[in-house]
Amino acid sequence: MVREWDPRTASSAEIGSVLDTLNAVLAADLPQDPPWREDSLREYLSEVMPGERRISWVAEADPPAGGGPGQILGHVHVLLLGDIGVLEVLVHPAVRRNGLGRELVLTAARRVYQEGFQSIGVEVVGDTPAIGFYSSLGFALEYVETRSVLELATVDWTALTEMAAGVDPGYHLEFYPGGPSDDLIEAYARAKAEVRDVDDGELRPSSYDPQRLRDSLDTLHRRGMKPYIVLALQQRTGTVAGLTEVVVPVQHPTRADQYDTIVVRDHQGYGIDRAIKARMLLELRSAEPELAEVQTWNAQANEAMLKVNAELGYQTDRDWCEYSVDVAELVHRFDAQR
Ligand SMILES: CC(C)(COP(=O)(O)OP(=O)(O)OC[C@H]1O[C@@H](n2cnc3c(N)ncnc32)[C@H](O)[C@@H]1OP(=O)(O)O)[C@@H](O)C(=O)NCCC(=O)NCCS
Repeated sequence: MVREWDPRTASSAEIGSVLDTLNAVLAADLPQDPPWREDSLREYLSEVMPGERRISWVAEADPPAGGGPGQILGHVHVLLLGDIGVLEVLVHPAVRRNGLGRELVLTAARRVYQEGFQSIGVEVVGDTPAIGFYSSLGFALEYVETRSVLELATVDWTALTEMAAGVDPGYHLEFYPGGPSDDLIEAYARAKAEVRDVDDGELRPSSYDPQRLRDSLDTLHRRGMKPYIVLALQQRTGTVAGLTEVVVPVQHPTRADQYDTIVVRDHQGYGIDRAIKARMLLELRSAEPELAEVQTWNAQANEAMLKVNAELGYQTDRDWCEYSVDVAELVHRFDAQR
């Protein structure tokens, strides 16, 4: 029933079946989240950064009596990068608690082990069955972030326009739909590199090298995810003093993802954080007419950013937990139980 699956060559019916299961999972576990669309779903499931690999499996129901393919009721993929595999698994709510989730995770874990990777990481949404599931498989909680959601319908646009203009006159803001222009990539990467070592509890941005940043923007585009950037530039030097990144996925264009917001240490205290985020929302309002919400993830320890988000109208939503497990230990434990 479980077989390796390649989204690049899968039939449209299979892609549609994965979408149906994903939306059934969302309706059961995250009913406030918008359902996904089929647009670029194949690319979303198959495109990766250079040097990374994603391997996928599906679990299919028996074919229907009239013939034709069986429905895809379970899906797992693992992204191999560095020395870890990042896992995502979905089981249709109609067939849960039958051991399918466990079988899918172990299938992926065996491959991760064979390929010589050390650990598996997974993002688990708080208050969903996945918490009990990963705990039962021996995954350990590493890290918790809070997701917050901003409903654009609740935004006071006049106040936001003032916030966007409230930056110190030594700086000006620039909006870049699609990503920063190529002449700014190096300065942009430097700004990201500078906060790499700051220990505020947040996961550090990974694309701080100019080529990696180009690759990461290119990968986003290939996956159907449109990046928007607002930069704060110091008037006198042209230095990138701050940046904020939002991505609008074509798979759910009513809800965007706020990625990194960074204000370089020497430029903190000039109102940049608030101004760049406000400017971004003003720009998105006209650039993405379907957009209704923006979601973002923050470490609970990052009080400064949580304060600005609250001023903008973000409401905290759920915990977003990172779990991990040592692959060899997981595989051997389960093999010993068989
Ligand atoms: C987590 C998930 C994969 C589990 O799939 P499943 O097929 O029901 O899991 P299994 O039947 O293999 O469960 C294995 C064990 O996990 C634990 N478990 C599973 N669901 C659980 C729940 N709701 N509560 C507590 N423990 C649970 C149990 O110990 C279970 O063993 P048992 O049934 O013998 O007691 C499934 O619920 C799912 O797809 N969730 C959504 C995942 C996701 O990524 N969501 C976020 C984006 S929408």
